[in-house]
Amino acid sequence: MKVLVTYFSQSGNTEKIARAIYGEAAQNNDADLKKLADITPEEVAGYDVVFIGSPLHSGSLAAPIKECLGVIQPSSGQKLAGFITHMAPAYPDQDMEAFAEPIKAACQENGIEYAGCFDCQGFLAESMHAAVQKKLNMSDEQWAEMVKQMTGRPNEEDMANAKACAKEVLG
Ligand SMILES: Cc1cc2nc3c(=O)[nH]c(=O)nc-3n(C[C@H](O)[C@H](O)[C@H](O)COP(=O)(O)O)c2cc1C
Repeated sequence: MKVLVTYFSQSGNTEKIARAIYGEAAQNNDADLKKLADITPEEVAGYDVVFIGSPLHSGSLAAPIKECLGVIQPSSGQKLAGFITHMAPAYPDQDMEAFAEPIKAACQENGIEYAGCFDCQGFLAESMHAAVQKKLNMSDEQWAEMVKQMTGRPNEEDMANAKACAKEVLG
C-alpha cells in the first residue's frame, strides 16, 4: 500500500508522532513522511492511506491543516486518519470528536473512509508559557503542576501508542 504521513508542527511534538507513525507504516508499506507544506492536494490523492497530524490551536486543528482538508481531492477507496497533540493532559471523548470533525467532514465530502484520530499530550513551547498561564488564569502552583504533567510529552509511551493505532489503521 502507498501510505502518506503528513503533518504541521511548530515545536516538534506532532512531528515526533508523525515519525513514529511513519516508522510503523514503513515496515510493510511504500510510505512517505512529508511536512504539509511540501505536499499538494493532488499528491495526497495518490495514496491509499493518509495520516494527517496537527497540534491543537485554541481548541481547533491548526489553520494550515484545516485549509488542506478543505481542498483535499475526492478519492474513493482511500483511508484518512488524524493525529493531534495538545498541551492539556486529556480531553473528554466528545471534545476530541469535535476537534477531529474537519477530518471526518473532509472524508464524508470526498468518498474517503475515516479511520479515526489518535491524540496525546505535547509540551507547550516555553515562549508561550507566561501568556497561557495568564489566559488560563492559573496560579504559579497550578501552572507548575501543568508544566510537570506535560514535560517530556510526547514520550516513549505516546509514540508506542501512536504506532499501535497506526498498525490498526493499516490492518
Ligand atoms: C497558538 C497555540 C494555541 C494552542 N492552543 C491549545 C489548546 O487550545 N489546547 C491545548 O491543549 N493545547 C494548545 N496548544 C498547545 C499545543 O497544541 C501543543 O503544545 C502541541 O503539542 C504543539 O505541537 P507542535 O510541537 O507540533 O507544534 C496551543 C499552542 C499554540 C502555539
